Amino acid sequence: MDADFWLARWKKREIGFHQVEINRFLKQYWSTLELTRDRTVFVPLCGKSKDILWLSEQGHHVLGVELSEAAVQEFFEEWEVPPKVDQKGSFTCYSGKNVELLVGDCFALTAEDLREVAGVYDRAALVALPPDMRRHYVDLLAELLPVKAQTLLITFEYRPGALKGPPFSIDIEAVKKLFEGQCVMTMLDSQPFDFRGVDAIEHTFRLSYL
Ligand SMILES: C[S@@+](CC[C@H](N)C(=O)[O-])C[C@H]1O[C@@H](n2cnc3c(N)ncnc32)[C@H](O)[C@@H]1O
Repeated sequence: MDADFWLARWKKREIGFHQVEINRFLKQYWSTLELTRDRTVFVPLCGKSKDILWLSEQGHHVLGVELSEAAVQEFFEEWEVPPKVDQKGSFTCYSGKNVELLVGDCFALTAEDLREVAGVYDRAALVALPPDMRRHYVDLLAELLPVKAQTLLITFEYRPGALKGPPFSIDIEAVKKLFEGQCVMTMLDSQPFDFRGVDAIEHTFRLSYL
């Protein structure tokens, strides 16, 4: 799943992952992270998610990273907030009100970029990455995130082979293995649902970095 794959998806408008409603697990479980309003929340692989708006409305400063510049532009257009655009290291940074979205590859982030982050919201980010990139992504976040950062993680499980990802199926054991030794993990929810005609389960976890 290289950059061209995702840029082509945005270009062809194959963005079935985009939700027009705020994610229900975000609304239900965000408070369990116990983050005060002023804290910075990182949204990796953010697309143009409406969840960014919800987090900003909670008073958080929201920092996102997204490969597609078109997605980031659309986010600000739909929000009707004209963004300020400048360069931040290797990223083009679009900012408006309390939202800052970095256009570029999450694998190019540095600890400096994430130094203020107290919370992370991962919906359709981990599951968007194939297994080899997934390990790299998890280890990178563990290396870059400040100690005690809290994450709300939403993953996806379905019968192996039932679908060609992304999204990729990651079962609970695989999630545990990925974050072992890096976080204390609390399982918050598991809900069955029908995904494109396939029986799937959506899992929600709270992760507390050690
Ligand atoms: C499945 S979508 C999820 C978007 C968003 N989290 C949501 O819930 O709507 C994955 C997004 O990650 C972006 N992406 C994929 N690889 C990336 C990378 N290495 N760095 C930054 N963004 C990436 C894609 O362009 C796409 O918008």
